[in-house]
Amino acid sequence: MKRRLLVVMLLLLAGFLAWRFIRPMNIFVVDDRFAWPVDTTQTPEVLGNLSAGECAACHQTFYDEWRTTIHSQAWTDPYFQTDWQFDNAQHICRLCHTPLDRQQPHKVLGYRDKDKWDPILEDNPDFSPELQHQGVTCAACHYRDGKIVGVLDNTHAPHPVRKLESPNEVCVRCHIVEGERWDAFFRFPPCGTVAEITRTQQQTPSSEALQKLTQLLTPEQFKQVGQQETRKGTSGEIAGVDIASLGCVQCHMPLAKRPLVKGGVVRNTRQHLWRGGHDPEMVKKALTIAFAEVKQTEEDTRVFQLTLANTGAAHYVPTGTPDRYLMVHLRLLDKQNKVLDERHYTIKRTVMWRPFIVDLWDTRLPRWQARQYRLEVPANSNAVKVEAEIRYHLLAESRRKRIDYKNTTPIHYEVFRKQIPLDAGARKGAL
Ligand code: HEC
Ligand code: HEC
Ligand code: HEC
Ligand code: HEC
Ligand code: HEC
Repeated sequence: MKRRLLVVMLLLLAGFLAWRFIRPMNIFVVDDRFAWPVDTTQTPEVLGNLSAGECAACHQTFYDEWRTTIHSQAWTDPYFQTDWQFDNAQHICRLCHTPLDRQQPHKVLGYRDKDKWDPILEDNPDFSPELQHQGVTCAACHYRDGKIVGVLDNTHAPHPVRKLESPNEVCVRCHIVEGERWDAFFRFPPCGTVAEITRTQQQTPSSEALQKLTQLLTPEQFKQVGQQETRKGTSGEIAGVDIASLGCVQCHMPLAKRPLVKGGVVRNTRQHLWRGGHDPEMVKKALTIAFAEVKQTEEDTRVFQLTLANTGAAHYVPTGTPDRYLMVHLRLLDKQNKVLDERHYTIKRTVMWRPFIVDLWDTRLPRWQARQYRLEVPANSNAVKVEAEIRYHLLAESRRKRIDYKNTTPIHYEVFRKQIPLDAGARKGAL
């Protein structure tokens, strides 16, 4: 009798685990912030069909900038498209990648489930494929309840305008995704950018971290450490976030003095650039890197050290989707540039997705943190130089294969490379 009960229990457990391995993966919570498409029924006539082209008629320079960004490709982006289709083309994904009602082929009437992963849909007669292709279009950020939202509030606009307290309010609609579910044990929400910033704001860099930074930064740079943000003690919850202190716009939309419309008043504006992981120059801005010889520890063994620190981003580096990671390579090279020995390290957030979601470990760089990697050259080595290389990966090759994403642009690129020759002269200089 007892044994039979045990067998039944084990079978149930096995069934449960099997289901956990095949069920659709809902990695985040569908928050009311983005659960409903943006209602555009009250659009004033001057904004026409709300497409970016309508805005461009008056705001050409803003349009030209936006065109160069991934926001304008949030729908057409081939990686998004492949991933979305691999994941059963769920409606939920449209809510941030194409947030306006007219950008979606269906209207959302409600949700069948508490988690809001199962929407009740109806055909949308106002659907515009042209608008859909604009992804995060102007109106996705600027149009709310018949008005254009902005921060200036002193303009003479032909369209109604509503003032925002902080420009960062715009970003948090889509760049906060919560992950608190019964089966998820996230340290940070799936796209944890905001949580990473607030956590860092609450922490002062440790003395060990400061020590490493002094080695890396000029005294001028060092003075700025920890001074860029107000260190308000927030609760870490979204409700308690001080949105103005997040700084998204300061770093991702550089200031420019210029008119909003041709021949208009020159004002303080922000460039619509939003560079991130797709842009090597932006990733370089996040990091301060040094590669040099350190004092010998053992007779005849030479030691080189790579130090890198996050000095340019308020969130972790990398941030956003857990796909992103950095690889550090340290190599010994011979005369023909052949690799004699290589060490590599991954700077990455590692999440176990099944059967439960568990944030396993996180080697990414919080703001003002430095990391060091050592390379030893044994006395009997044939190496003639040492090399350090850092590469940024948009996604792993294994994942690219799994979802069959046929990339036409590289999925990883170099952000740093330096070689140091091992001749006696260099050695003397370092000691
Ligand atoms: C017919 C021309 C015209 C069109 C079309 C137009 N705008 Fe404007 N917009 C203006 C003018 C003029 C101003 C005020 C310029 C000034 O006073 O410097 C303005 C101001 C703004 C502001 C600043 C508001 C503030 O207080 O911060 C934003 C943001 C803006 N427009 C966005 C848009 C967007 C987005 C669209 C398309 C959905 C759009 N505009 C369409 C002419 C236009
Ligand atoms: C309507 C939703 C939405 C809003 C609002 C929004 N974003 Fe985004 N953002 C996205 C999506 C979706 C992507 C990714 C698109 C893709 O890669 O397919 C993205 C990508 C980015 C990237 C990455 C660029 C890269 O090269 O990988 C940055 C940086 C960014 N956004 C910053 C901002 C900032 C700053 C704001 C506020 C001013 C903002 N976003 C507002 C949806 C949004
Ligand atoms: C990802 C969100 C986002 C998108 C997409 C976006 N904007 Fe903006 N825009 C902002 C934010 C945030 C500000 C306020 C910047 C500030 O602090 O001055 C702004 C400001 C403006 C201003 C006022 C000048 C200024 O810098 O304050 C104009 C005009 C404007 N946007 C036009 C456009 C047009 C036209 C498009 C599409 C081609 C567009 N925006 C797309 C977020 C966005
Ligand atoms: C102090 C400057 C700074 C602030 C503040 C900042 N960022 Fe960044 N951000 C960067 C730099 C530099 C990078 C490039 C390094 C990287 O991709 O990790 C970056 C990268 C990104 C990316 C690219 C991630 C990807 O997957 O490609 C996103 C998204 C992003 N930031 C969003 C935000 C949002 C949203 C905020 C506000 C909540 C914000 N950032 C605040 C400097 C900043
Ligand atoms: C709450 C808003 C939101 C929802 C819902 C959402 N995304 Fe995104 N997505 C973003 C933002 C913001 C980024 C870019 C910033 C980052 O890296 O975190 C992004 C980036 C991506 C990227 C990386 C694109 C690139 O070029 O590297 C993929 C792929 C993606 N999303 C797929 C999906 C899929 C599939 C779904 C539905 C299961 C989905 N997204 C739902 C906001 C959202």
